[in-house]
Parts: sequence; structure tokens; C-alpha cells
Amino acid sequence: MKVLAERLIERDVSLRPFNTFGVDANAALYARIRSLEDLQRVLADRRVLGMPLLILGGGSNVLFTQDFDGCVLKVEISGVQRADDGVRWRVQVGAGENWHALVERLLDDGVPGLENLALIPGSVGAAPIQNIGAYGVELAERFHSLQAWNFATQTLQTLTADECRFGYRDSAFKHETEPRLIVNVTFALPRQWAPVVGYTDVENELRERNIQQPRPRDVFDAVVSIRRRKLPDPARVGNAGSFFKNPVISRAQRSALIERHPSLVSYDIGGGRYKLAAGWLIDACGLKGTVRGRAAVYDKQALVLVNLGGASGADILALAREVQEAVLARFNIELEPEPRIL
Ligand code: EPU
Repeated sequence: MKVLAERLIERDVSLRPFNTFGVDANAALYARIRSLEDLQRVLADRRVLGMPLLILGGGSNVLFTQDFDGCVLKVEISGVQRADDGVRWRVQVGAGENWHALVERLLDDGVPGLENLALIPGSVGAAPIQNIGAYGVELAERFHSLQAWNFATQTLQTLTADECRFGYRDSAFKHETEPRLIVNVTFALPRQWAPVVGYTDVENELRERNIQQPRPRDVFDAVVSIRRRKLPDPARVGNAGSFFKNPVISRAQRSALIERHPSLVSYDIGGGRYKLAAGWLIDACGLKGTVRGRAAVYDKQALVLVNLGGASGADILALAREVQEAVLARFNIELEPEPRIL
């Protein structure tokens, strides 16, 4: 057992290849977790005992601003298993599988339902943590359950959607002090497929392509081309998708804002609450395309911060603070970062 743990754990590892911002930071210890057994071996290793732990999936929702003096657990658990109860497909997927590859693979196998979430960077195990969403679909709507290793009780737990407490880019996993490691996720995908095409961008894209009755592949293609146009490819320009959440405000707040800013973009989310497009707010401050050293506000989508190459996490964080201050000064709205800042 000891010998195996020796091989699983590395010392002083650069995390640059393991975060889509492409910033440099070192981990004191780094372990690749390919199974529950790997995890148990690593956790029992004397070098790891008592150390802070950091669970890392695809590294697409994290900003490292300093070295990590603990053990990174890089989740690489693989595997896709499918069952069919006549009404829906149940698909259990290892947490380390790549999200987009899963979406495409299921589509190829005739199992649609995740196509609106195409091209979201990151791993399957990270998807429930921030309840990924795009173009009218959230992970929560396609979710059945997940299995997670509880570090405190040292047991494998099964959690239902209710227990995950999904919200807008939010879940129970974002609020716990004692972390759990998601081992696999089970999706429930209805066999009766209906396209979700109400989102303006998707509607327009399909119209331009002259598609009236979209098949799953059409929706997938539309989403992929919209994302390619608007969002930077992390393989070429370091980024973590939207850097801020879209803020939610009351009807009264919205009315007051609209009076002064008639072109404000907002969405009615029910219950007298409105979601504002943070990208619009940042854009309206004239910050789109702003460059500070090697960090920048992406020039095609102001909600995305990018590493032009060679930026540090601190550089990107400083730019984020500048954006937050500008939006606060102009609109009296506090933007909340979406990625984990470490
Ligand atoms: N807008 C501007 N200027 C900008 C950017 C946006 O005026 O620079 C306006 C757009 O014209 C549009 C509105 O703001 O009217 C919303 O923009 P968009 O449709 O691009 O979506 P978003 O609200 O900026 C959200 C998600 C994205 C997701 C898209 C599509 C959040 C924080 N972001 O972005 O998710 O792909 O909707 O559903 O909810 C992510 O979470 O990393 C992410 C990319």
C-alpha cells in the first residue's frame, strides 16, 4: 500500500498545466486520483495527513493567486455506464471525464439532453459544484444523483438533487467547510427529447441556418458555434469562462436603474427578482477590452477575464477588483466572482 502511495504523490508540482487561466502556482504535494482506492491510499499517507487538501477537476473554475501549501487531489476517475428504464436514460459518469467529450459522446450514441451545455470547459465532477448552465439549461435539470467521498465520516455518500441544494451557479458543495470529493455523477435524460431553443442567441443561430425543427445535433452545433464566436478557447487564451455571476436584484432596484440606464439588460426570474447581465454592466463602464499588463477584459464578452500570456493570478485578481469597483461606482451593484479564488 505504501509503495503505491509513493507513486501517486509528487512533490512541488507546477499547477500551470492544470488551470485554464494558465497562471503559475506550485503545489507542495500533488496526487492523481484515478479511483476511490487511490484516494484512500493518498489520504492515509503520512505526508498528506493534516495537510490542507484541494480538489481539482479540469481547473476551469479556479484562479490561483499564490502557491498552495497542501496536497492537490487531481480527480481522474473515468468511466461511463448507461442504463435505460424505458422513460429515461440513466448515465453514471466518472468525475474525471471531460464534460464536453461526454456531451458529444452521448449525442453520438443517440442519447441527447446535454447539447445546450456543449463546450463548457471542465470535468464532469466539477459540473454539479457550480451547477453549470448555458442557453436555457442547467445541470440540475438533467441530474439524478451523485456519489461523493466524505472526508469527515470517511464514507461514500449518495446525494440526490435536493441534497445538493442546486441554485444559480451554486450548490451545497460551495458552502461546506469539510470538503467532499465527487466520485461520479448520474444523469437522468428523458427519452422523449424536446429541444430547448428559447434563448435568443440559439433562436437566431438556428434561424440563420434555416432550421425549423432542430434535431439534437442542430442544437449542439448552434451552441458550439455561438460559444466559439463569443468565448475565448482556453487552449489558446487563458480564461475561466464568466468571471462574475449575473447579479440578482429586486424590482424596485431594477426600476431605479432603468430610469437612469434605459438600455440595461435584465431578465425576470420570478418572485419579483431580476437577473442583470453583468457583461452589460461591465461593458457600460467602458471596460470591455481593457488591458492591464498581461491581464485583460475579453474584447468580445466583457464578463470574461483573460490571461494574454504570462499574467499572474494576482494580476488577474487586481483587474477583477478594478472591474468590481467601476461597476459599484456606476451602478451601486456588487459583482460576485464565479471562480474559486485561492
Ligand atoms: N452583454 C453586453 N456586453 C458584453 C457582454 C454581454 O452588452 O460584453 C449583454 C449581451 O448583449 C446580452 C447580455 O449581456 O444581452 C447577456 O450576455 P450573454 O448572452 O453572452 O450571456 P451572459 O449572461 O454574459 C451567461 C452565463 C454563461 C453562459 C451564457 C449563455 C453567467 C455568469 N454566465 O452569460 O456561462 O454561457 O449566459 O447561457 O451566468 C460561465 O458560467 O462561465 C458561462 C460562460
